Amino acid sequence: MDTNDTKARDSAPVLSAEKAAGRAAGSAAARILGIESSCDETAAAIVVDGREILSSVVASQVDIHRRYGGVVPELASREHLRQIVPVVREALVQAGVALTDVSAIAVTRGPGLVGSLLVGMTYGKVLAMALGKPLIPVNHLEGHVHAVLLEAHAAGREPRFPAICLIVSGGHTILYRVMAEPSVAPMESRGDGHPPAHAFRYARIGGTRDDAAGEAYDKVAKMLALGYPGGPIIDQLAEFGDPTRVAFGETKIRGNAHDFSFSGIKTAVFYYLRKRAEFQPEIATRGEALGRGEKSAKALRPLCSPATLDLIASFQRAVVGDLVKRTMAAAEEFKSRAVLVSGGVAANRELREKFEEAANRARIEVYFPSRALSTDNAAMIAAAAYPRFLAGESADAMLNAEANLPLA
Ligand code: KG4
Ligand code: ZN
Repeated sequence: MDTNDTKARDSAPVLSAEKAAGRAAGSAAARILGIESSCDETAAAIVVDGREILSSVVASQVDIHRRYGGVVPELASREHLRQIVPVVREALVQAGVALTDVSAIAVTRGPGLVGSLLVGMTYGKVLAMALGKPLIPVNHLEGHVHAVLLEAHAAGREPRFPAICLIVSGGHTILYRVMAEPSVAPMESRGDGHPPAHAFRYARIGGTRDDAAGEAYDKVAKMLALGYPGGPIIDQLAEFGDPTRVAFGETKIRGNAHDFSFSGIKTAVFYYLRKRAEFQPEIATRGEALGRGEKSAKALRPLCSPATLDLIASFQRAVVGDLVKRTMAAAEEFKSRAVLVSGGVAANRELREKFEEAANRARIEVYFPSRALSTDNAAMIAAAAYPRFLAGESADAMLNAEANLPLA
């Protein structure tokens, strides 16, 4: 099985084996099986009471999509079909939980690629019906919010609401206000003994008008022949360049100041490279190295001139600066008590650093998921389902995937 779950296991706040065994056996705990297949990651997880991760398995398809420099929807659904059964089985085995002991099945309903969503959702539906368990549909974006809360709980922290949440990934760059509803106590039908949990309300206050930030990372990496996905490699190489060398200027947004735009900086990098023929030979050399499978930062760094490293560092500084500035401005405008940052780009080291600095200055607390929970995973889906489980929510067999499902 081509299951790359190491990143999830390395740093996700997975419970100790003893505690996990106790939780798995305990009758009052809600053991939710989460299934996520909205894009190019097939994932399954078991989360107890919306807080404790017993297992989180992620099978990444990145090796399949790499040669195309982006996700190919048809290939993604085919791969989900291959992976979904072994990934769910692996999540159960790692958690030490039998399928019959699962309390509910949570599935990502959208947004995402419809063919991909359908695979996880259909499998979840079939399991729920066969087992007679509730089927809980989850918005993928709400999952990203819960990825932050999972990490906060693991660290014994509790964000204060209302908060501002930035979801920043390859597909999204959106700002929400997040309001906590009074605690949801368990419905009678769900039995006593489950700890209460907050449900949340969301208001969308801004978002990208063109590319998502992660998409800009991926496209710039493609222009520079740095491989796919671009975020992690640019993150690692940026520290070797001078971020003040290339001035990209501030992104100007007319109208809603909480909106973003990243196509301008992507185009600026394109013209910067087109005007300077000296970049071409090293781009060709890196392309050959990638062709030989040499894709790590360690392998590519010696193939980058100082001018390329400066360009990479300057690009990252501009994107990070813009994300931090607009998010913090929203937090101050709405008098938020916390900032939550989630999605693949939230794994970025400079982004975390700059957010910490800005939040310290503004005396606002900032929260991130662990790096493993920043990118798509199913633990966040199972966690987001918990308040809905308590409230007695359950979908029937008519449930459908929604490619553009909004959160607010
Ligand atoms: O959340 P995610 O796994 O999937 C989507 O829903 O898109 O995010 C993937 C995106 C890719 O664009 C990738 O380049 C970016 O997140 N990314 C990063 C980093 N790690 C992943 N961007 C910047 N720095 C990183 N360390
Ligand atoms: Zn995502």
